[in-house]
Amino acid sequence: MSIIFNSEKKIFSIKTADFSYIMQISDSGYLLHKYFGKAIGDDDLSFATLEVAHASFSPNPADESFSLDSMPQEYSASQTGDFRVSSVDIKSANGEYASEVKYVSHEIITGKPQLKDMPSIFAENDEATTLVLTCEDVYAKAEIKLYYSIIEKLNIIVRSVKIKNIGDGTFHLMKMASSCVDFCACDFDMTQLYGTWSKECNVERINIPQGIHSIASRRGSSSHQHNPFVAISDKDATETSGNVYGFNLLYSGNFAIELERDYLDNLRVVCGINSWNFDFELSSGEEFQTPEVVFTYSPNGFGELSRTYHKLYKNHISKSKWAHKKRPLLINTWEAAYFNFTDETIIEYAKHAKELGIELLVMDDGWFGKRNNDKTSLGDWFVNTEKLKKGLPKMVEEINEIGMDFGIWYEPEMISPVSELYKKHPEWCMHMSARPNCLGRNQYVLNLALKEVQDYLFDVMTEVLKSCNITYVKWDFNRNLTNVSMEDLPNSEKGETFHRYVLGLYSLLERLTDELPEILFEGCSGGGGRFDPALLRYFPQNWASDDTDAVERIQIQYGTSMAYPVSAIGSHVSNCPNHQTGRTSPLKMRSAIAMMGTYGFELSPLKLTDEEKDFVKEEIKLYHKYYDLINNGELYRLTNPFENPYYCATEFVSPSKDKALVTYVVSRSRRLKPVFVKLQGLNEHSKYKDMDTGICYFGDTLMNLGLNFSKYTDEGESVRVYLEEI
Ligand code: DGJ
Repeated sequence: MSIIFNSEKKIFSIKTADFSYIMQISDSGYLLHKYFGKAIGDDDLSFATLEVAHASFSPNPADESFSLDSMPQEYSASQTGDFRVSSVDIKSANGEYASEVKYVSHEIITGKPQLKDMPSIFAENDEATTLVLTCEDVYAKAEIKLYYSIIEKLNIIVRSVKIKNIGDGTFHLMKMASSCVDFCACDFDMTQLYGTWSKECNVERINIPQGIHSIASRRGSSSHQHNPFVAISDKDATETSGNVYGFNLLYSGNFAIELERDYLDNLRVVCGINSWNFDFELSSGEEFQTPEVVFTYSPNGFGELSRTYHKLYKNHISKSKWAHKKRPLLINTWEAAYFNFTDETIIEYAKHAKELGIELLVMDDGWFGKRNNDKTSLGDWFVNTEKLKKGLPKMVEEINEIGMDFGIWYEPEMISPVSELYKKHPEWCMHMSARPNCLGRNQYVLNLALKEVQDYLFDVMTEVLKSCNITYVKWDFNRNLTNVSMEDLPNSEKGETFHRYVLGLYSLLERLTDELPEILFEGCSGGGGRFDPALLRYFPQNWASDDTDAVERIQIQYGTSMAYPVSAIGSHVSNCPNHQTGRTSPLKMRSAIAMMGTYGFELSPLKLTDEEKDFVKEEIKLYHKYYDLINNGELYRLTNPFENPYYCATEFVSPSKDKALVTYVVSRSRRLKPVFVKLQGLNEHSKYKDMDTGICYFGDTLMNLGLNFSKYTDEGESVRVYLEEI
């Protein structure tokens, strides 16, 4: 595993355990992409060129015989002979809109550099190696550095780009992608995660047609609509077989993953910040850094691809102490009380929750300003003492005396027009002087690009968070950005605000999490509206969806697990009939599905019957028993709920393969038909014992014949099978 440069052939060869990624410098300095796929030998890949199309309609550069329009490349330019999707567009002072990327030099460095203003993947120096290719656009006077980092033990490349103005004048970046990769003469499928509020991460797989297909957000956040994740795969790739390539952008704002299939059946994948409304001015000496994108490759289907992302995000992105620490088992007040609570209610919940074995009480929306509904008070982050008469410190003290920890809800990035903050600082919200502002859930968005807004939020939040023993914060974000402008920037720089907002968010989160390192922060955006890998740096867990219906959650959690580990997927047992769908599902099933995520509760513990309470107590014992296996084991998705609506089976296997937990749920009645579910990831020749029935099976029997679940036929039935190697 390594990064090697063959100076004679001018070939760079990046190798991990399973894949090779190869590129070559052309005679005149173009960076040509040669290969990305299953690991291959160190052949001279000069033969792998595509000189097919160069004619008047696919022109060639003056110093080369090939056309950039057909040649696979590392970082595509524009107006210089390649008509396909560009990676970098530069508008020079003379108005020319073009770019060229030519190799100048390179270095191979130990370790993985960190980005200054944005979350980045980290690794120890002995775990990672980085190739830095320095290129230049001599006409625009831009130096362009392409970064490729590999973490030796994982099948990943982390890419990003840094551009610097090395001239005397000023230019504008109109597009600056994090990566580009061209696949030669191929026929792939594309898989994406699309959705909406309360229905996140639907898995859609399509044939990639001719033309440009874009998975993108213009909402100012990574969005419910498209997760910044795409996989491309062999047509016959399955969960367990075939070549699959993943692309996941570490960015929480407007993004685009553009796929272009051209007439030669070449496929280009360009990932980065969305160029819509992006116009970044660089003066002499100034630099611009793109976010990182993680490329993953699996020769063994989607399951392995996901497990690679899970390992990466469990170990190489979060700065939180809670990344590896056992998280507290929480109960959240939202669906139990909505805005209608007092300190007495909260204390009462805490008492009852404690009896069940729950460890942390989270007071959701409604504790501040005059917030009795969603029409007021965002921005007024001081305690509503009409509701919490004892005051926060006293209430938290009483909760702690009961033996429970305490957590609190915030939506820091927002401002209600009906608020004290808006009276004082109407100019702090995103607005355009000549247009009326759009309301979303009765609120506006604060302009986090402004330092004074970041400072206000830092001060007002730390004041409350330090006033008593608060150990958890839920950070919500309930609308998307409109009216994005910045009055005091010159017109030519107004295209910077979307990106500066995201940088402002990261900066605030960086400061708060440094100041309050003991607090567990959970991300939320009306559920999974901003579930992206960048925010995993601060939020080791994210509320996956406001849809808490167990059946719906099967698909939502399955889709989210394509890229994100179960330890990050916030999931709770909620009330029935379900508040979103009206469906009634057995408590056992609700608990089984919530336990395939972070596990927690979102219901009134006062309303549980004695029988339900006894059941919950037993489930909590199992939660502790299986915690390590679920959170630190490997996930195997045994069924696909987008193809099979009848039953769902999920398996967690310990890293040493000596333990496995299978959860089987009947999501729709399926009488008469037998069901055998084949397990995965076990030692073939070992014997495993079902610890409840005592029945023993060989690993290969479990993986080839499977477990027999035929007797579970009714909707809502569920069972766990826990196996230990003997
Ligand atoms: C949206 C979140 O997803 C919910 O869980 C809850 O916190 C509400 N916001 C509160 O307004």
